[in-house]
Amino acid sequence: MTIDRNIDLAPYTTFGMHAAAEHVVVVTTLDELRQALAWAHEQALPWRILGGGSNVLLTGDVSGLVIVMRIAGRDVTIDGDDVLITCGAGEVWHDIVTWTVEQGWSGLENMALIPGTIGAAPMQNIGAYGVEQASCFVSCDVLDVTTGTVTTFDRDACAFGYRESVFKHALRDTAIIVSVTYRVHQTARLVTSYRDVADELHARGVQVPTPRDVFDAVVAIRKRKLPDPAEIGNAGSFFKNPVVPRATYDTLATSYQDAPHYVQADGSIKLPAAWLIDTCGWKGYRSGDAGVHARQALVLVNYGSARGAEILDIAQRIQSDVRERFGVELEREVNVW
Ligand code: EPU
Repeated sequence: MTIDRNIDLAPYTTFGMHAAAEHVVVVTTLDELRQALAWAHEQALPWRILGGGSNVLLTGDVSGLVIVMRIAGRDVTIDGDDVLITCGAGEVWHDIVTWTVEQGWSGLENMALIPGTIGAAPMQNIGAYGVEQASCFVSCDVLDVTTGTVTTFDRDACAFGYRESVFKHALRDTAIIVSVTYRVHQTARLVTSYRDVADELHARGVQVPTPRDVFDAVVAIRKRKLPDPAEIGNAGSFFKNPVVPRATYDTLATSYQDAPHYVQADGSIKLPAAWLIDTCGWKGYRSGDAGVHARQALVLVNYGSARGAEILDIAQRIQSDVRERFGVELEREVNVW
């Protein structure tokens, strides 16, 4: 394990902004993680964990120690139709999804191609096309930084919500996820109700889909709509889809009868942030190398050498336009460092 000084973080994040980290260490085992934390403690330095860097916007140099999580490992326990897979926090999410689909297991296929690592998945309860990781989640092992002990958290302990968990809030600075266990199935249990997925399967002439068909459909949709971070820097959806009281939606609907909206179990309404931003005219906007993706208004992009502050400026102007026009607050999904 080597602790490097003054390292450019651009290759470690999908937005690709240049910013120097004071110290960087790549950890591949729990023991190395403990050593890295002990070192930061001795030096009285703050530390942060970086997974795939797919949900982070760097707005300046980063002081202290950046710990790059690369703990690998895949364990499998088969119990009848259930397959329990336990994966190291540093495994790449899409590699795990691909591997399960190759085994013929079902459960993760709708979440193909989500950037990031396994350890980050419970953190913000990633999801796509009608499925959240919470639906397959069994437990995760968590290092308590204050005591040095590893505890197993079940689903209730994680307090999952829409792009939410206890790890984003109460345990933000004290807990590090080191492995996650998911339950997938040997027989297919597919979710194909999401409009885009249903349309894609139909267009491909698939009538009785397999997990592989759903996986392929999701990969095709994402490649069509979302920019590939290897080509254009981005961090996926920049904002969460806002959930508003029914009355807010009713007011909005008097002027925008066709506004897409999803009624929640408690009667509140989830509005697609992409539609709100698009309606304000931001889709395809570009200033220098910072912009709003031309095919998905919820994705802010770095065309090359944009600085974090420029992206943040666009984000704030979008928030202010959406507030003024619709009376709706957009909350960032991306973490700003
Ligand atoms: N829309 C627009 N303009 C656009 C794009 C979309 O008006 O530029 C409209 C669409 O017509 C549709 C609605 O907005 O009515 C929703 O669009 P879409 O189905 O593309 O999904 P989204 O709500 O924008 C969410 C997740 C994505 C996830 C997709 C598919 C959030 C914040 N984002 O996006 O997750 O892949 O659904 O399930 O919940 C991410 O979190 O980083 C992410 C990419």
